[in-house]
Amino acid sequence: MKNIAILCSGGDVSGMNPAIKHFVEYTKKKGLTPFLIYDGYEGLIDNAIYQASYEDVAGVMIRGGTFIRSSRSKRFMSAEFRQKAKENLDAHNIDMLLVLGGDGSFRGLHIFYKEHGIKFCGIPSTIDNDINGTDYCLGVDTALNIIKTSIDAIRDTASSFRRAFVIETMGRDCGYLALVSHLTSGSELCLIPELKYDLNSYKEEFKKQIQNGRKYFIAIVSEGIKQDSQEIADWFENEIGMESRVSVLGHIQRGGNPSIYDRLMAYKFVNYAVDGLLRGKDESVICYTKSGFEYKSIDDVANHKKELDPELLSYLN
Ligand code: F6P
Repeated sequence: MKNIAILCSGGDVSGMNPAIKHFVEYTKKKGLTPFLIYDGYEGLIDNAIYQASYEDVAGVMIRGGTFIRSSRSKRFMSAEFRQKAKENLDAHNIDMLLVLGGDGSFRGLHIFYKEHGIKFCGIPSTIDNDINGTDYCLGVDTALNIIKTSIDAIRDTASSFRRAFVIETMGRDCGYLALVSHLTSGSELCLIPELKYDLNSYKEEFKKQIQNGRKYFIAIVSEGIKQDSQEIADWFENEIGMESRVSVLGHIQRGGNPSIYDRLMAYKFVNYAVDGLLRGKDESVICYTKSGFEYKSIDDVANHKKELDPELLSYLN
């Protein structure tokens, strides 16, 4: 009987629970014994490793976050603690791991594989959608829908006054969430780290729009831009002459009931990841591109910066 485990690492996403549920059900169907590792790499080091049953995953489909929790482990970066992790896996006869996480998590996993031979498949999971080699990361659709609901609600109050709202999205150094939210909400301004901007280049146009009857503005800015969101709001007040407010959406973007798309993608990512490991793909990340699902190397995925889709970017120019 083969033993296989799953863990979450880095920022949680809505879609992790559906992935864990399917992992338990699919591996059992394949004649494997599934294990859950709690608290990410921290739990791997501290032996928080438990055999999974159907009851463990009953009802988790609808919950955001991850019920086995996640961590950003500093200890896993050191060889001494990776040795401890290997001993814990050996004690449970586990030699295959599925990791839901981002590129940093995958780099650590690759070192672990090279040192100790633990086979792995990474499933790209981050709301930032900033992992090279994959067009889609688990959790992005749910995050975009939460942002959409938030912007729609803010629009109600913005349009009830004459106000400019600066809405800050997450994304770390990647503007994907802000850009897609801008294109799909019809906001007036979008600022992302990938594109240089000069606020004053918008001044004449915005003033003209006010003269023509515009009552409010929505600006969507990504957390990775150089300026603070309050500075953008101050610019609306001082240069455009409109009262302004800042709304930092923050961690609300990471939670919520997983969307249908994320539930389905969780299902597919897990199928491919488990099948890959069983077919001898010992050190890969399962990516989703225009050509479908593909197994990619750590080098492709974790050692190159992801570029924003040029087509999406061109819509901002
Ligand atoms: O990587 C996901 C993410 O939500 C980023 O968008 C954000 O910058 C960061 O994590 C926040 O991290 P934490 O939850 O540790 O504050």
